[in-house]
Amino acid sequence: MPQPRQMHLGVFVLGTGNHIAGWRWPGAAQSFEDLSVVQEIARIAERGKFDLIFLGDNLSTDPGMHPSFAARFEPITMLAALAATTTHVGLGATASTTYNEPYTVARQFASLDHLSGGRAAWNAVTSSGEKAALNYGREHPRHDARYEIAEEFVDVVRGLWDCWDDGAVVRDHATGRYIDPAKVKPLDHEGRFFRVKGPLPTSRCPQGQPIVLQAGSSEPGLNLAARTADVVFTVVQDLGEAQAGYQALKSRMARFGRHPDEIAVLPGVMPVLGSTTAEAREKLNRLQGFVNPGNALVMLSSRLGQDVSHYPLDALVPEDLPLPDTSHGFAGAMLAKAWRERMTWRDLFNLAGAARGHWVVAGTPEEVADTLQQWFESRACDGFNILPAWFPGAFEEFVDQVVPLLQRRGLYRRDYRGNMLRDHLGLPRPRSRLF
Ligand SMILES: Cc1cc2nc3c(=O)[nH]c(=O)nc-3n(C[C@H](O)[C@H](O)[C@H](O)COP(=O)(O)O)c2cc1C
Repeated sequence: MPQPRQMHLGVFVLGTGNHIAGWRWPGAAQSFEDLSVVQEIARIAERGKFDLIFLGDNLSTDPGMHPSFAARFEPITMLAALAATTTHVGLGATASTTYNEPYTVARQFASLDHLSGGRAAWNAVTSSGEKAALNYGREHPRHDARYEIAEEFVDVVRGLWDCWDDGAVVRDHATGRYIDPAKVKPLDHEGRFFRVKGPLPTSRCPQGQPIVLQAGSSEPGLNLAARTADVVFTVVQDLGEAQAGYQALKSRMARFGRHPDEIAVLPGVMPVLGSTTAEAREKLNRLQGFVNPGNALVMLSSRLGQDVSHYPLDALVPEDLPLPDTSHGFAGAMLAKAWRERMTWRDLFNLAGAARGHWVVAGTPEEVADTLQQWFESRACDGFNILPAWFPGAFEEFVDQVVPLLQRRGLYRRDYRGNMLRDHLGLPRPRSRLF
């Protein structure tokens, strides 16, 4: 019997909380450089039967920004540590296609997939911030060029993952043959940006291939996602906008011979819970009261790809502000909301301070569950990337108060049905295309 459609849930892990001032909440974790903090978050995610935990990354830092952007572990290293203390939850991390070699990235995520027994996911990002270039001694390519590189990069990574066929490691004691060489091939890739021979020194992954995540919303970003992604994170502020974006991405997949169910679309949402609606709003106001104007402005300028500190805070956000060369997704969603709701710079700065441009929903557990259900059932998404304002408390509240409601309504799994991330996402294990 076909299973009823159910949500997928991810959690965006930032040790000090997704809210820019979440660490100031009483009892909140104080650091993103503390393994016990992320281990606790991963335990809560498994208690909530989450599909995956997600660790973002940037290749430069600014002490004036979000505390968990300013001081953090390198995410793949951190996931390797978490692989040892978790059993089911998917482990997703960002690695840039602009400032890496595909051979390195393919190898890292293949290793993580083996280490975790099939739970690795790679968030392929083009790195929007040009400050990364200063740390790699290179020029920062323009937006379009970054995506041209990314298209080839993802193909090379996937090609490298296909160099080993299943059953290549035979360990035949009688003949003394350890590996069947007929089941290991080079990639022999010669492209515009990369020349990679292969194979990797890593046998075929437990998942066949690790999961590929993506989060770009520009035209080339959507093409890359429609062609290659398994999970897509989106930035949305409005139900209609989310439905249109969802439909646009799913229909674009046909161009690449893919079925719409092969991608799970997960918008980011920060739930703020209270025992009454008023209490939830009060909590959000209290959090917003902790925001320091300096770092919220740095965050807003980064999201909009330009310094906006010279605008008077009470002036309306002008309607002719161009989309930046950095991230179309964040700037597009935030500016559309600002224009729709005639927001001032102060309002937009509050939005950036809360969830860095993501959607915030404050209410009782029932109200939040109702909203998530409405978005899911009206095909605005296939689930959510949850952004707890602080850790671990706000995440525990979601897992203990909202997840049971979703389970009771049949919208969410009561238990894992397999051990691998592909099992949670309902995606089949791919065969190697080289054999
Ligand atoms: C949930 C989410 C997580 C993201 N994580 C990262 C990240 O860790 N590192 C990064 O450089 N960009 C990250 N991004 C940015 C995008 O992946 C993308 O590179 C950027 O938005 C530019 O693409 P676009 O112009 O196509 O939107 C994230 C975006 C979203 C929505």
